[in-house]
Amino acid sequence: MSEKVFPQGFLWGGATAANQFEGAWNEGGRGPATSDTAVAVSPEDRKKIEEFAAPMNREKVLFALEDQEGLYPKRWGSDFYHRYKEDIALYAEMGFKTFRLSIAWSRIFPNGDDAEPNEEGLAFYDAVFDELLKYGIEPLVTLSHYETPIGIALNYDGWKNRKVIDLFVKYAETVFTRYKDKVKYWLTFNEINVMGISGYVGGALLFEDGKQNLSDMYQAAHHQFVASALATKIAHEINPENKVGMMLARMESYAATTNPLDVMEAIQAEHENLFFSDVQVRGKYPAYTNRMFKENNIEIQMADGDEDILATYPVDFMSFSYYMTAISRHNPAENGEYTAGNFSLSEPNPYLEASDWGWQIDPVGLRVTLNKLYDRYQVPLFIVENGLGAFDTLEEDGSIHDPYRIDYLQAHIQQMHEAIEDGVELMGYTPWGCTDLVSASTSEMSKRYGFVYVDADDQGNGSYDRYRKDSFFWYKDVIGSNGANI
Ligand code: BG6
Repeated sequence: MSEKVFPQGFLWGGATAANQFEGAWNEGGRGPATSDTAVAVSPEDRKKIEEFAAPMNREKVLFALEDQEGLYPKRWGSDFYHRYKEDIALYAEMGFKTFRLSIAWSRIFPNGDDAEPNEEGLAFYDAVFDELLKYGIEPLVTLSHYETPIGIALNYDGWKNRKVIDLFVKYAETVFTRYKDKVKYWLTFNEINVMGISGYVGGALLFEDGKQNLSDMYQAAHHQFVASALATKIAHEINPENKVGMMLARMESYAATTNPLDVMEAIQAEHENLFFSDVQVRGKYPAYTNRMFKENNIEIQMADGDEDILATYPVDFMSFSYYMTAISRHNPAENGEYTAGNFSLSEPNPYLEASDWGWQIDPVGLRVTLNKLYDRYQVPLFIVENGLGAFDTLEEDGSIHDPYRIDYLQAHIQQMHEAIEDGVELMGYTPWGCTDLVSASTSEMSKRYGFVYVDADDQGNGSYDRYRKDSFFWYKDVIGSNGANI
């Protein structure tokens, strides 16, 4: 065991999102959100990403909202809404310095465009933030994590409509003002680049002809860039101490071989991924945009002043999720083997192992990622998601033995430390799903990430009681020693 030193004030914690954790989808005045229409994916399909990224249309949305038969686990999540005190007490026991959660936009503005916010929703988050602050845990709050009010999809055509910028800015201003003295770390859009993969999940876009339209998706992303920049401006005006970050689903892509064509392919994959952080961190569209848009038949409209807004209000820091890496090859084999990932498929990397869901495990890739991002942007970085989705067994005595999760996290934390030694400025680390929650891609409960086990199954049956896993005690020790004991 080697002695590791993490920076003073390093924000150790855990991460969640309202749509997968909070539940109570029709309580407290909350309106329906896009996530409430997500039907569970069957176990046979858990390695496919098609379901999650599937284009939605109005008929499917309306059907889901009325459906009495289907299974929609995100509607009940892990019942954080009713159990937040117990959950936060467990985070305090582990020594969390921060806790990442999202505000469900439709709990504040149930239809997305209401004249006044819903007081009951605002009061709920007051209570949650007070509970966190009672233990000295800093809230890290995502404004939009795949949970857009459904009214924005049905009545505005989602984020491709410029009017949605104003709706979002009003929502952001409302919560920045209300929680001025309680929250200082904010993220605007979770995994903003998911827009390029699912217009519905990322931008509440509907595609009536069943085909995703890239122009609509990038138009929606442009509106989110502007909305995020305006929110950053307002956050700083309301409280100069506020720190606002962008959030990217980071996917490092290695060239399959030293063939220069494969290397160029990898650069293009990097452009696709980093386009979003290039805009939000550097405050302007990158040089490769024109060609990338032209070759993909993407056309977007910008209003006068948009470029100024982007340039004047870039984010304060960059956050990202890290689960895996991918491979780029110029000439992929037809019918070649593919492995799953969050939102994209890749040919398997022979040097890596994969989780039960096919996600390839690459701790050194995290060091590579941290170095590349810091070299490129020179702003503080924050790993706001990482972790292993795995099956766990609750033993009769209430214990859960999850050495595989400890191994995974330990290996990643060691590489984080290497990156800090390399000179990377890293603000903190919030592993995903610190308490078990419903999976984003498959809506399964049995894909567990937590330090805390939730007694619930894929159908929503169970006591929902919480149990400490072995990783709970291990992580407590990691935090308690500020990373020295890894
Ligand atoms: C990220 C999302 O992509 O991955 C989370 O921000 C999600 O919402 C996490 O839960 C893990 O993905 P999954 O599909 O295993 O839940």
